[in-house]
Amino acid sequence: MAVLSRGDDPPELSRGDGPQEPTPPVTTVLVLNGPNLGRLGSREPEIYGSATLADIEADCTAVGATLGLTVDVRQTDDEAELIGWIHEAADRRLPVVLNPAAFTHYSYALRDALAMRTAPLVEVHLSNPAARETFRHTSVVSAVADGTIAGFGPRSYELALRAVAGLLDR
Ligand code: DQA
Repeated sequence: MAVLSRGDDPPELSRGDGPQEPTPPVTTVLVLNGPNLGRLGSREPEIYGSATLADIEADCTAVGATLGLTVDVRQTDDEAELIGWIHEAADRRLPVVLNPAAFTHYSYALRDALAMRTAPLVEVHLSNPAARETFRHTSVVSAVADGTIAGFGPRSYELALRAVAGLLDR
């Protein structure tokens, strides 16, 4: 057995012929969007900006690729469909970036579904709800999320994907 004392050079690490660092597997992230977010681009642009959900999807796909993440962007106006996707994420152990839209403020059913999560969850908002009407100051989702990113427009999604990548330790 080689014995090292302080000041000795560490043994040469073999490169090329030994086992290689495994490439991290590509992880799918669900980027889920709640009601009225399919109307982005024309919906109150002074609040939500001019980017459409298709623009945000393209940005998420590009950023995800740089992080080794495959991004699956979905939108629904239907609470039951959104909860079904949360169940799917739990079953498949997929991380989720979620803009719950108005469900943020009152959907205990969504909150209970998210409490069953098995992978990172980042809540995201285009606007900053804390700076808007009082009813938007409550999020029933935040307490079951790893964190929340709000107020940066479409960049909120990019920051959320970076947060997910950090939580997956990539
Ligand atoms: C939102 C903020 C919510 O208060 C609102 O109901 C939305 C969008 C946002 O992204 O800023 O629909 O989640």
